[in-house]
Amino acid sequence: MVEHFVHTEGVVGSNPIPTTRLLLHWLFNSGQSVAMDDPLLHRKMAARMANRAREDGADWFEAFYQWAGGDEEKVPWADLMPHPLLSDWLEGKQFGAVAVVGCGLGDDAEALAERANSVWAFDVSETVVEWAKRRYPESLVEYGVGDLFHLSEERKGIYGTVVEIFTLQALPPERRTEAFAALASLLLPQGELVVITRWREPETELGPVPWPLLMSEFDEIDKLGLERIEQTSAEEGQAIRLVWRKI
Ligand SMILES: C[S@@+](CC[C@H](N)C(=O)[O-])C[C@H]1O[C@@H](n2cnc3c(N)ncnc32)[C@H](O)[C@@H]1O
Repeated sequence: MVEHFVHTEGVVGSNPIPTTRLLLHWLFNSGQSVAMDDPLLHRKMAARMANRAREDGADWFEAFYQWAGGDEEKVPWADLMPHPLLSDWLEGKQFGAVAVVGCGLGDDAEALAERANSVWAFDVSETVVEWAKRRYPESLVEYGVGDLFHLSEERKGIYGTVVEIFTLQALPPERRTEAFAALASLLLPQGELVVITRWREPETELGPVPWPLLMSEFDEIDKLGLERIEQTSAEEGQAIRLVWRKI
């Protein structure tokens, strides 16, 4: 059955959350009716919300997860399994303290927890943190709400491994330098930063989110006292894995 969200007078579907209502207002001008089984809709929804990110910071993520209302199919980046580039990297390894940045629904954090002494997985969205906890009620992962741009001092310099997957590419490019420094600040000496992200050539225009990273942006990470020890390759627009070690 085709479900329709009809937007009239600030009432959108059955979702009473004001922020979500506002976001939906941008998306669907009043009177429009939208087929919720349009396979492109969820992706378009995320992209259009994200295009507000330069003005609204990370707030759109919370609104987006509220809108998704616990339906994993509405989250375009939720593969419900660890990213293959992470699974591949994990093989045969054991870890001490791990931090997972922008953990989303928790699948990468859970895969790390099978091999780590401890995992702290945080996300700026409270809704997704609660969602991840519900998905993994027996989890050994310490899930928490946290903002990469406002890390508490006690989290800094204590992680042997820091993993970020598809969060950098969802941040406005003008905040990336700050984000790189924040990621590096979590690491112990000799600790490793793992980044899984899409990349683009400089001449490729930025479209809707995700905003793949430039190779020159990875060079910025090299300047933070980190040595790049691994980089996979893939066609432009595809995901690659990069690993740095703190010197
Ligand atoms: C595209 S999603 C990727 C989620 C997950 N890593 C995955 O691969 O499925 C980006 C995630 O980063 C989170 N995020 C965005 N800005 C953040 C910030 N400043 N601090 C922590 N998490 C953030 C979002 O809420 C979202 O869950």
